[in-house]
Amino acid sequence: MNNSLYSGRTALVTGASSGLGSDFARQLARQGANLIITARRAAALEALAREIIAETPGINVDVIVLDLGQSDSVERLAAEIATRGLVVDILINNAGYGSYGPFDQIPWEKENTMLQLDIVTLVRTTKVFAEGMKKRGWGRILQVASIAAFQATPLYASYGAGKAFVLNYGIAVNRELRGTGVTCTVLSPGVTATEFLKVADQRPTSFQRSTMMTSPAVAKIGLAALAKGRKSVVPGFGNTVAAVMTRFIGRGVAAAVAEAAMR
Ligand SMILES: NC(=O)c1ccc[n+]([C@@H]2O[C@H](COP(=O)([O-])OP(=O)(O)OC[C@H]3O[C@@H](n4cnc5c(N)ncnc54)[C@H](OP(=O)(O)O)[C@@H]3O)[C@@H](O)[C@H]2O)c1
Repeated sequence: MNNSLYSGRTALVTGASSGLGSDFARQLARQGANLIITARRAAALEALAREIIAETPGINVDVIVLDLGQSDSVERLAAEIATRGLVVDILINNAGYGSYGPFDQIPWEKENTMLQLDIVTLVRTTKVFAEGMKKRGWGRILQVASIAAFQATPLYASYGAGKAFVLNYGIAVNRELRGTGVTCTVLSPGVTATEFLKVADQRPTSFQRSTMMTSPAVAKIGLAALAKGRKSVVPGFGNTVAAVMTRFIGRGVAAAVAEAAMR
């Protein structure tokens, strides 16, 4: 374990109770990182902690059960981490969800909490934990955006716009961090087999079924880019082509294509 990439480092993974978050946690443990895993579902987090400790002996796994959709949640998270005597060297800003549907029919409570979680909490965790990383001269931050970030996405209007924020914010932060020893990488997955579509309240379209990637594969690509300190990565050939194409077609055409893929 001593020669492992992140030996002796501690990674905070938000949204680790399912999907990409649980795969980030499993793979980071195999790379030697101790873990702080957080989400709302205590039983799922405890089960993941037991699994990781059994699979990778010597790795410490701290579980913090928290609703990150609340405005004071990051302060509470940081206080709990400090109380436990832990420092965060690697931040995986993964917790998030989408709200599918016509923009004026999505329930406001679901959309409001989504915007808080996907945008405000992500910015707050970045600021709070980057501060210590900069002082110590080393850190890695992964922001999970989406392929929806690259163009207007009808039927995921606010989710896609929120992920566009994450993409631009992450790339800007990466640039500001030059020379500090800390890097910020944006991972923009296409449709991935997790609980995402169920939570978003969308039945997968034929486009989504045909392009779906597995969660461990997407997490692996994200962590490889994170290790190199790359500013941005899109997993999968088809997703990469789709993201690049948006630079060459008009915004209206790109939105129409995205709508066709989502309907
Ligand atoms: N799957 C895809 O197709 C896809 C594509 C592009 C981007 N993404 C992004 O990937 C990230 C991970 O999603 P996923 O696909 O792995 O979906 P997922 O399986 O639904 O996982 C989402 C995670 O976020 C956590 N979460 C949700 N609300 C929370 C809250 N209020 N407080 C704390 N944690 C909360 C969930 O935990 P609890 O429910 O236990 O709180 C869960 O661990 C998200 O940012 C998503 O937008 C996914």
